[in-house]
Amino acid sequence: MSDLHVVVGATGGTGSALVRELVRRGHRVRAVSRRGGPAPAGVEVTTGDAVDAARMREVCAGATAVYNAVNPPFDRWTTVFPAAVRGTVEGAAAAGARLVFADDTWMYGRVEAPMTESTPVRPVCPKGVLRAWLADTVLGAHARGECRTVIGRAGELYGPGVESLLAAGLFGAAVAGRPLRWIGGLDHPLTPTLVDDFAAVLATLGEAPDDALGRVWHVPHPEPTTGRALVAQIRARTGGRAPLVRIGSRAGRALGLVWPLAREGAELVYQFEMPFVVDGSAFAARFGSGPTPYTGPTPYTDGVDRTLAAYRAAAAGGRAA
Ligand SMILES: NC(=O)c1ccc[n+]([C@@H]2O[C@H](COP(=O)([O-])OP(=O)(O)OC[C@H]3O[C@@H](n4cnc5c(N)ncnc54)[C@H](OP(=O)(O)O)[C@@H]3O)[C@@H](O)[C@H]2O)c1
Repeated sequence: MSDLHVVVGATGGTGSALVRELVRRGHRVRAVSRRGGPAPAGVEVTTGDAVDAARMREVCAGATAVYNAVNPPFDRWTTVFPAAVRGTVEGAAAAGARLVFADDTWMYGRVEAPMTESTPVRPVCPKGVLRAWLADTVLGAHARGECRTVIGRAGELYGPGVESLLAAGLFGAAVAGRPLRWIGGLDHPLTPTLVDDFAAVLATLGEAPDDALGRVWHVPHPEPTTGRALVAQIRARTGGRAPLVRIGSRAGRALGLVWPLAREGAELVYQFEMPFVVDGSAFAARFGSGPTPYTGPTPYTDGVDRTLAAYRAAAAGGRAA
């Protein structure tokens, strides 16, 4: 019987891509979320709330690796995320498993240069402070010997099943023939992360030797693109001349007056009004060779095609991508 890998947050954009990747690599997979949901054949689906440490101990039993791909609703990050991280640390620790945490880059704050794993942590918004604290919780558990942990960090996600500042506003809108929405400046260097590349990095960390643990690894990306280039690619592939609506900090704040989700997101718009480049060269150097080398990153042309195909299929089936 192969190793058991437990994915908590398994029905989300990251979690479902990770479940597919782990199955592809031949692992036994248990998919956990509060509501459950569809999963590939052979995957064990169960329900569990990550804030419930006792339930996490149950769902993690027998695991060699546990992945936290949980994302509470934006307006409940502060109240739910800390306990949801603690719950999965406790679950993994009880099983003697490693914990792989799916992380973002909001803790770095305003950074002009490419972000590396040694970029100082200087958050500039409440969600950035929270993310710094979550990462400390995860790595602190490792340092104290409570649980072996490791962090995989991605830029803003795009791809099948993803909810992000880039997702529906660009890809969903293009497929539906609606005006494209772009947050921030169009010409800053940008490295969006294809969710499949994020999943491959997390799965690799789930399998990696112990000396790769106790630290952060960034997802490798292609050479930076820009918002303008992405919009042009999407238009070229959809034959669309749909207008482009740009949303900046001021518009984001104004929208927030009437739309609570926009209010939550407005504090993050700064990141798209400056370079947003994530450097994953350390991961590529460490895991780019060996028996099962990491083969990413996926070129943006392929990632855009794959994402549009998923949105088209979802639209044809009357569901979300
Ligand atoms: N989206 C991005 O652009 C992006 C970029 C970089 C990093 N990340 C990080 O990657 C992680 C996953 O994000 P995502 O965007 O892939 O998530 P997502 O698509 O919003 O999905 C969230 C998942 O978490 C589950 N969930 C929510 N609350 C839960 C709880 N209390 N207990 C158990 N499961 C719970 C959801 O299912 P139920 O609701 O059924 O429980 C769902 O399966 C987050 O830490 C996120 O910040 C995201």
